[in-house]
Amino acid sequence: TQDIVIAASILSADFAKLGEEVRAVDRAGADWIHIDIMDGHFVPNITMGPNIVKAIRPYTQKPFDVHLMIAPCDPYLEDFAEAGADMVTVHAEAGPHLDRSVQLIRSLGMKAGVALTPSAHESALEYVLDKLHRVLVMTVNPGFGGQSFIPEQLHKIRAIRRMIGDRPIHLEVDGGIHLQTAPLVAQAGANALVSGSGVFDGGDYAANIGAIRSAAAS
Ligand code: DX5
Ligand code: ZN
Repeated sequence: TQDIVIAASILSADFAKLGEEVRAVDRAGADWIHIDIMDGHFVPNITMGPNIVKAIRPYTQKPFDVHLMIAPCDPYLEDFAEAGADMVTVHAEAGPHLDRSVQLIRSLGMKAGVALTPSAHESALEYVLDKLHRVLVMTVNPGFGGQSFIPEQLHKIRAIRRMIGDRPIHLEVDGGIHLQTAPLVAQAGANALVSGSGVFDGGDYAANIGAIRSAAAS
């Protein structure tokens, strides 16, 4: 079994001191910094863009796991590469040419991920899987932090774990991951857990990250 990766979603951070928040979750043990980019079009919320990614880049050396909830995404991929993104995830539903987006991410020197919304079928991954560093299963409808986990996604996680087989691909889950749901997704085959409210709520980031990590291993 692979080690559990904890990706701290800074959507739940204090945006007035974002650099310090990034440094704090790094020191608290987060493996990846998960950055949610929303456009008010693909999802009903607006967050931040490449200029913010660039501004927080000096605050950590941990990988930036950039989750694009924007359509179109291709015109902005180079900007995210220049801003310091290590890994970019695009939604399979966000455009008609997923393979082109994946190829573009890789050609810019970044690791590619594909995300699926809760209603999207895992078959969308089939012909791009060998080009991916990770698959992201949304366990809430994208757009907001602090929503409730959608349990039907456990079946999809199991199906994708079978599809991945022995490929070196991370299976990441995002949305509603906390102490009760972490063991469920880990048992279903997820190895990378995004958490926003689960990391930031209460203010003790190290304790929160440690508790999610041990819940996932239980
Ligand atoms: C939602 C975002 C998530 C969000 C998760 O669209 O993709 O990354 O921050 O928040 P929690 O962990 O609070 O459900
Ligand atoms: Zn996300």
